[in-house]
Amino acid sequence: MADTDGMTDSHDYYLDIPQKDPGYPLKGCHALDWGMKNRLTNIFNPKTGRTVMLAVDHGYFMGPTTGLERIDLTINPLLPYADTLMCTRGILRSTIPATFNKGVVLRASGGPSILSELSDERIAVNMEDAIRLNSSAVAVQVFIGGEFETTSVHNMTRLVDAGNRYGMPVLGVTAVGKQMARDAKYMRLATRICAELGCSYVKTYYVEKDFETVTAACPVPIVIAGGKKQPELDALTMAYNAIQQGAAGVDMGRNIFQSDAPAAMIQAVSRVVHEEMKPQEAFDYYETLKNEK
Ligand code: R5P
Repeated sequence: MADTDGMTDSHDYYLDIPQKDPGYPLKGCHALDWGMKNRLTNIFNPKTGRTVMLAVDHGYFMGPTTGLERIDLTINPLLPYADTLMCTRGILRSTIPATFNKGVVLRASGGPSILSELSDERIAVNMEDAIRLNSSAVAVQVFIGGEFETTSVHNMTRLVDAGNRYGMPVLGVTAVGKQMARDAKYMRLATRICAELGCSYVKTYYVEKDFETVTAACPVPIVIAGGKKQPELDALTMAYNAIQQGAAGVDMGRNIFQSDAPAAMIQAVSRVVHEEMKPQEAFDYYETLKNEK
């Protein structure tokens, strides 16, 4: 019999205070189930509704990319500054310490290497393994307009179905082929298709003109890829402009791990994303941290 000694009989049901709906900070995500929302909270800082995803999955089709030859030495020291890590299950198991306690976005498509047709991908991780790895989302490449467009869209919808069964968000990664125009019209098309077909959020590239129409027309959060390495001030300016025009964060790789001072760069990017620090100020901050080192 439970010990009920000392239990009082007075209760306060706060009858004058209606229960508030706790709400949810991410665009278009209010109707998701609790587990899915909770996983997204491991990716997007709930205070700002934004994220700095550190992308290090390039090896899944490029092999040991510059800056990622020794992830244990170059990336692990950056983990404290990222909101989330995007990587493959191979790197996660072999190289990332299991004490890492932020979100992991698992690369879940693959197949072709840089030596063949990149759009010919398949699903490369099943949902059971993503759950076993305690992932916060899975990421799938979608090649709208590419040679294997339909296959890649089918990869995405199968992952969305599996993700919905288990409460796992799917990140749709829009891949732009060399022959395609990198403009707002294309990005609107590609991101909207990902959202319409069930992705919880979408990664795309920033475009100089009309990027705000891309974020406006996509009913779920958009994060931007960093793309090829640029001077640090340019990369910070791109991140700032994307945030001002409605992006919910960055999924940045080369502009961080190929920077002269990766730890300084990721901290500067984080201040742009979460504090809307202006690009020049963020660059000065980067320089200060770099010189301290
Ligand atoms: C493509 O290789 C991956 O999806 C990367 O995660 C993505 O392109 C972001 O990396 P980066 O900022 O280097 O473009």
